[in-house]
Amino acid sequence: MISSQIQLASYLFASILFILSLGGLSSQESAKKGVLYGIVGMIIAILSTVLGEGIHGHIYIIVAIVIASLIGVAVARKVEMTSMPQLVAILHSFVGLAAVLVGFGSYLDPHTQELSGTLRNIHLVEVFIGVFIGGLTFTGSIVAWGKLDGKIRSKPLIYPGRHAVNIILVMSCVVLCYLFIGMEGTNGIGYLYVMTAISFFIGVMLVMAIGGADMPVVVSMLNSYSGWAAAAAGFMLGNDLLIVTGALVGSSGAILSIIMCEAMNRSFWSVIFGGFGETPKGKQAEVTGDVQAVDHEEVSDLLKEAKSVVIVPGYGMAVAKAQYPVYDMVDRLKKEGKTVRFGIHPVAGRLPGHMNVLLAEANVPYDIVLEMEEINDDLSETDVVLVIGANDIVNPGAETDPNSPIYGMPVIQVWNAETVIVMKRSMATGYAGVQNPLFFKDNTRMLYGDAKDSVTKINGFL
Ligand code: TAP
Repeated sequence: MISSQIQLASYLFASILFILSLGGLSSQESAKKGVLYGIVGMIIAILSTVLGEGIHGHIYIIVAIVIASLIGVAVARKVEMTSMPQLVAILHSFVGLAAVLVGFGSYLDPHTQELSGTLRNIHLVEVFIGVFIGGLTFTGSIVAWGKLDGKIRSKPLIYPGRHAVNIILVMSCVVLCYLFIGMEGTNGIGYLYVMTAISFFIGVMLVMAIGGADMPVVVSMLNSYSGWAAAAAGFMLGNDLLIVTGALVGSSGAILSIIMCEAMNRSFWSVIFGGFGETPKGKQAEVTGDVQAVDHEEVSDLLKEAKSVVIVPGYGMAVAKAQYPVYDMVDRLKKEGKTVRFGIHPVAGRLPGHMNVLLAEANVPYDIVLEMEEINDDLSETDVVLVIGANDIVNPGAETDPNSPIYGMPVIQVWNAETVIVMKRSMATGYAGVQNPLFFKDNTRMLYGDAKDSVTKINGFL
């Protein structure tokens, strides 16, 4: 057992560690340290809560932690990097459900019945808001998981007047909250049930209205909601650390969503409310021309002649797990005295920082990994660009075709280089489902095949 002063000091220390953790995660060099801060902070948070005054039934808590940890480790080991967004989405649903259960538990708690006057009203509002946010996070996250995992169709479910329906439902929850507060004892439980059902429904409808392409932003937004749900649970339980942690998760998730929207040139509100704002109505520009294919030996010849090479990786590199032979290629080219750098698009792959994680995994030095804005101006002086399993992020149509779904999204302007080699298996489209005029340009050569296989074969000729 620890005293409440020690608990408070531990909470403060854990909060500082969580802030340091977020700071650490903002760059690759410090990311490992950031994760470590987070782990230590969480251990301190759990221990100081469990060992605090008035906590009973430690054995049940320990058993629950052990079972949950075993499941967590097993799932995290098994999950593929490309399935990470689904895992994150389903984990958010647990936070939402936890907030709902804490809300009900807190309302039925005999201590709540001892509260009176303004204090009681404030507590009941906390319960109501916590359950509301938790409820929509719970079902919204399940739908997001289903869409990302292909279990629910990714096409947005849009019906006329849905925004009005959502507004009416939210307004009715405000009325229910007023009635709930007016009830004696636990007699307001019926209102809480009705509001929970409404929040479940809103969660489903909000995410069903959003198309698959916007799902990553939605997952990050649900991350934010789950943070606010945790903060609300912190208010209900009178736990300062949960309030701080929830607010950190809530605000960082919201900031990440805005950054991702900017990188994909999507309106934040359009994504969050599904279909608010403009979508292209005209016909997309037709892509015509001839495609020029090359073989592995020709690519290796081009690389041998080049002085500067830029590699632009995309989702296909992750699928093929090509990062290791890619690193091998970089190593060989650098030994030949060539300048080799990577150009990373902010939404390359399927999750924020996807490419950076893969390259770090393969020990690629950070100083040759550049952001899109850092590399774009240098491309006109680059001899060879290798586009490895990328498509949408190098699509010139995003700059030239106003009817393209990705029009306005900043892209890596690889076509400005002398020669562009595109490695992919076929002429298939990428995530956004749009044809890529890059493949038909005079200075583009297509190297068909699995990215890992292709890079390994090129290495054989270097
Ligand atoms: P995509 O546009 O999805 O293109 C990936 C390409 O990789 C495909 O055209 C595919 O062509 C190729 N490919 C697949 N497996 C391959 C393999 N084994 N070997 C070689 N090539 C392979 O990817 P991108 O350029 O990285 O762009 C990302 C897209 O995802 C953007 O539209 C972005 O908005 C969206 N998005 C991003 C995120 C985040 S946060 N990063 C999250 C979700 C969605 P083939 O089938 O012909 O091989």
